Amino acid sequence: MIGTGYVGLVSGVCFSDLGNTVYCVDKDKKKINLLNSGKVPIYEPGLEEILKKNFKQKRLIFTTDLKSAVTSSDIIFICVGTPTKKKGNSADLKYVFQVANEIKKYIKKYKIVITKSTVPITTGDKIEKVLLNLKRKKLVDIVSNPEFLREGEAIRDFIYPDRVVIGTDSNKANKILKSLYLPIIKKTSRYFNTSRRGAELIKYASNAFLATKISYINELANLCEKTEVDIKDVSFGMGLDQRIGDRFLRAGPAYGGSCFPKDTRAIVDTANNFKTNLSIVKSVIKSNDQRKLLLTKRVEKLLKGKIKNKNITFLGVTFKPNTDDMREASSLYMIPQLHKKGAKIKYFDPSGLKKDFSSLKNVKFCKDISSACLKSDLIIIHTEWNEFKLINFKKVVKKNKFIIYDMRNIYTPSKITNSGIKYFGIGR
Ligand code: UDX
Repeated sequence: MIGTGYVGLVSGVCFSDLGNTVYCVDKDKKKINLLNSGKVPIYEPGLEEILKKNFKQKRLIFTTDLKSAVTSSDIIFICVGTPTKKKGNSADLKYVFQVANEIKKYIKKYKIVITKSTVPITTGDKIEKVLLNLKRKKLVDIVSNPEFLREGEAIRDFIYPDRVVIGTDSNKANKILKSLYLPIIKKTSRYFNTSRRGAELIKYASNAFLATKISYINELANLCEKTEVDIKDVSFGMGLDQRIGDRFLRAGPAYGGSCFPKDTRAIVDTANNFKTNLSIVKSVIKSNDQRKLLLTKRVEKLLKGKIKNKNITFLGVTFKPNTDDMREASSLYMIPQLHKKGAKIKYFDPSGLKKDFSSLKNVKFCKDISSACLKSDLIIIHTEWNEFKLINFKKVVKKNKFIIYDMRNIYTPSKITNSGIKYFGIGR
């Protein structure tokens, strides 16, 4: 595994747990030292235990030595980052090509080189050009095997994926990869062999579709708010239709994370390069951006426009629960905006303090729910961590009048309003 970021580390650890010897390579010495001391640099439930077990059994090797890792391996997964370029919307592939150029020197016998990072359609073709000499000598096959892991659920997603997609027209590579994935695909999931370009596109198409589903339900939630319909009922009723499915129909703040925002931008960019207008995905990106503004305005409205010196509590600031990841979290927009308007903000997140807010004078991290909620005027449930689901608000706020804005609809409105608390949700 080249790159010990989210995808590389989780996949590496899980592959070793299936009995393979896995070399996890990274240029970052600090990270490798940390991993060699049995610590995990990312927050992912369950990962540390599996890592330690396989590390002890010497099936998992963390190293900065790319040469020895490549020469010792039959299969090479490229798992480096593909962030959005600083200028424009396309995915920055410089790390992917750096890896391709480096490994080229060390391949002396047949190996499969796989992109697991999310890469735009035709990236495999470009890697093949870099490795053309080796390809001609039949020393490599370049394959696309996109990863569909969700943060916070990564181990389960790896062991029980809905599908394993392998993009290659090489029978040899396909056979080897099928046997690598056999322990996983035995358990109900599907193994799908398609073209390399097809596999590359499946990944982007899937993420853009899921983002579309979320934006769709979020816009419907706006309509529900005006028509006194509960969006949860709408999601449930829609989801009963198996053609639609009930997952990813939870209305909430703008979607965030390391994938949806980046991948929707990148697929539009790729399509533009091929002179194809993905107007639906373009609208989704716009709708999601506007949602951050819309919900911030709603917060102001709940406080009747009087933000200055109001005590606002954020419960959860990450883009989703069970992760410490702040990438493109909507709190990154909301908190500075409300702070600018004079609000005094306290926040608690089970994954700890966030340096993103450290320069904001009146934004304070609290070590628990009670201290974050004490004397608050407005409590915003921004991320649906489990520990926020059964709070006795009156007890922790210690104040008569306060408002709850449940952006994840984790509470039943009547239960809260019956206890005399003002409650607002999303689309209800
Ligand atoms: C996503 C894809 O699900 C995964 O397959 C891919 O490999 C990487 O990108 P991830 O970013 O970890 O995974 O999180 P996900 O659970 O998909 O949530 C993304 C965002 O959508 C979060 O902000 C989440 O809160 C939001 N979301 C999700 C909703 O608002 N409503 C939903 O119904 C589902």
